[in-house]
Amino acid sequence: MSVEEATFWEPYYQQGTLRWDLGQAAPPLVELLQAAKPKPGRAAVLGCGRGYDALLFADQGFEVVGFDFAPSAIAAATALAQAAGSSAQFLQRDIFELIPEFENQFDYVVEHTCFCAIAPEKRPDYVRLVRTLLRPQGELLGLFFTHQRPGGPPFGVTSEEIQQYFRADFEILSLTPNLNSIPARQGEEHIGQFRLKPLESI
Ligand SMILES: C[S@@+](CC[C@H](N)C(=O)[O-])C[C@H]1O[C@@H](n2cnc3c(N)ncnc32)[C@H](O)[C@@H]1O
Repeated sequence: MSVEEATFWEPYYQQGTLRWDLGQAAPPLVELLQAAKPKPGRAAVLGCGRGYDALLFADQGFEVVGFDFAPSAIAAATALAQAAGSSAQFLQRDIFELIPEFENQFDYVVEHTCFCAIAPEKRPDYVRLVRTLLRPQGELLGLFFTHQRPGGPPFGVTSEEIQQYFRADFEILSLTPNLNSIPARQGEEHIGQFRLKPLESI
């Protein structure tokens, strides 16, 4: 079964065997919101899972849409949002099919354990997707899983590779080793803020 199919991911949600699920928003994204204080706007959370990061951004005044193609992830995220009285919305979609519907619709794209979940050969498509979802000057706020183990998912990546993928289209405002990762990911995460370059400079 391929990671590119929802049927790969859906059983994990149905069985509740979610090794990646923190049960809360990722602490580095909480800290990024406090430290960088991005101006609230419209945000897309890609591969949102049960939606904790989407709820975090909605709580901070962002207008959030979380996308995931696993139906049980979207059902769980929607139920959590309703229970919390959150404005976050969740849509069951393949992220690689969001264009043209969502072209130029977002001020931010939020990345957390989606880039490591897609097949590595789809990474250029992911960069193109983020570029196309964003409005001018839009930003990618990303927590990347930079482990170096072979295979996946989660598929590892280095900080240098991330920069190679994104730097043609994005100004890398920051990309640093993350200091407040959960214990299982200590020393294996980078947090970054990338701003879309003006079209004429790409
Ligand atoms: C490792 S999980 C992380 C989920 C969530 N970000 C979290 O941290 O709890 C990866 C998620 O990406 C979703 N996903 C992977 N490829 C996708 C695609 N092409 N379109 C939509 N969702 C995708 C999976 O269904 C899964 O929920």
